[in-house]
Amino acid sequence: MSITYKVNVPLDLEAAIQVYRTSTLGERRPVDDTERMRQMLANANLIVSAWEGEQLVGISRSVTDWVYCCYLSDLAVSSSHQRGGIGKQLIRETQAALGPDAKIILLAAPAAVDYYPHIGFEKHPSAWTLGAGQSLT
Ligand SMILES: CC(C)(COP(=O)(O)OP(=O)(O)OC[C@H]1O[C@@H](n2cnc3c(N)ncnc32)[C@H](O)[C@@H]1OP(=O)(O)O)[C@@H](O)C(=O)NCCC(=O)NCCS
Repeated sequence: MSITYKVNVPLDLEAAIQVYRTSTLGERRPVDDTERMRQMLANANLIVSAWEGEQLVGISRSVTDWVYCCYLSDLAVSSSHQRGGIGKQLIRETQAALGPDAKIILLAAPAAVDYYPHIGFEKHPSAWTLGAGQSLT
């Protein structure tokens, strides 16, 4: 298959949600809350999309300052197109869009815990999260 990659082009909301759903990442993202998904796409500042012709088949959605850090929140490839190199290329394109000193940081979904080490990510021993609305002690 011939796949093209685009950086920060407008995406059709329903087509994007469909990629989340068919990839299975939709099980862990608010895909039934269309307005929240719209804001997630609108407010991310680095979205790389993968296309087979006119069909959206993959998304890498990040929030970044471009020069120091990039939080890669969502990496999703439609199930019909998985394991063909699209996920890896989406990350390469994300990295290419960043300045040379920006580090990519992410949390792996359970389905992808073995993926990131396989493609070269390093596990961080001191990563921490504070849940939405969670109070400090
Ligand atoms: C995880 C995901 C993004 C990977 O994208 P992909 O296009 O299918 O994978 P790639 O073709 O880039 O795979 C590159 C390599 O990783 C391997 N790989 C792919 N998915 C893997 C997984 N889930 N676990 C372990 N290895 C995996 C491939 O076999 C390939 O190995 P090789 O280079 O030795 O042949 C995609 O499968 C997906 O959308 N999964 C469901 C959603 C999800 O969990 N996303 C991650 C959110 S953090």
